[in-house]
Amino acid sequence: MKIGIVGTGMVGSAAGYAMALMGVGTEIVLVDASHALALAQAQDISHATPFASTIGVHAGEYADLDGAAVVIIAAGVSQKPGEDRLALLERNVAVFRSVISGVMKAAPDAILLIATNPLDVMTFAAQRISGLPPERVIGSGTILDTARFRSLLGDHLGIAPSSVHAYVLGEHGDSEVAVWSSAMAGSVPIVSFAQQIGRPLDEATRVRIAEEVRRAAYTIIEGKGATWYGIGAGLACIVRAIIDDERAVLSVCQVSDEIEGVRDIALSLPRIVGREGIIATLMPDLDQAERAALKHSAGVISGFSSKLSF
Ligand code: LAC
Repeated sequence: MKIGIVGTGMVGSAAGYAMALMGVGTEIVLVDASHALALAQAQDISHATPFASTIGVHAGEYADLDGAAVVIIAAGVSQKPGEDRLALLERNVAVFRSVISGVMKAAPDAILLIATNPLDVMTFAAQRISGLPPERVIGSGTILDTARFRSLLGDHLGIAPSSVHAYVLGEHGDSEVAVWSSAMAGSVPIVSFAQQIGRPLDEATRVRIAEEVRRAAYTIIEGKGATWYGIGAGLACIVRAIIDDERAVLSVCQVSDEIEGVRDIALSLPRIVGREGIIATLMPDLDQAERAALKHSAGVISGFSSKLSF
C-alpha cells in the first residue's frame, strides 16, 4: 500500500525512515515545498531499505499521492526552544489550507494522519478544511506521551513498557492527563503492583513521572532543537494499525462532538484504529481529579480551535 508524507523535515522523514525499517506499507511518496529536500530525504531513506525491507521510497509531487491509503501531514513550522506548541497555530493553519487542498485533489480516499503542532488544534483544522468525516482525520495525539509514560513506568518498575497498560489523554501538550486510576502492570493495578515489588508509586513519584512526560519534548528541544525519532515511530505505528486493520487501541486525536461538556473538540482518548480509520472511541473510567483535568484540557484546546474561522 502507498503511504504519502507531506512535509519532509525531521518529523516527516523520521516517519518515513521508521516505516522503511518496520516494513510498513509497500511504497512511500515524499512531498515537500522543497522538492530538493524531498528528493534528498527519499534517497537517504531508500539507502536504509536494503538493510530492512523492500519498500520503495520516492520523492514526488501532490499528483503522485494518487491512490495513497494514508497521507501523513507533517508540514509546518516547529517549536523553537522555550516556545509552546500553541504558538505555532496561525502559521500552520495557513500552511494546511494549501497542503490539504493538494492532498484531497490527488488522494480523496486517503486517511489523513496529522503530525503538525499544535497537534490537537491542527487536527481540528485539518478535519474542517478537508470536510472528511472525523474518523478519517487522525492526529498522532498523545501516542508519544503514552509511550513516554509507559517507558518511564517500565523503568521505575523494572518491567517491559509493553507490559505497562497506561494512557496519557487530552491535549498533546502542557494540559495532558496521565491516567493513574486505570493504569495496569500486567493484569495488576499499577500502584498495587509497585507496592508488591517494593518500588512504590507514591504521590511524589507519580507527580515526578507525569511531569517528566509533560516536559520531555521541551528537554529534548533544548538539547537538539527539535524531536523526531519518537514521533516518527509513533506515526509509523498508527499507519501500520490502519493499513493492517490491526484494530489496535491507541491514544490518538480525533474531532469529537462533545467531551466533558466541551463541544467540537479534538483531543486524545483511547481509540480503536483500523483500515477505515478510527472505529470507536473508548471513554475510560476516570477518577474525579482525572475527569476534571480532561475537562480542563478540552477547554485549553477549545480556547484555540473555537477562534479559528471554520
Ligand atoms: C513531541 C513533539 C512531537 O512531543 O510534539 O516530541
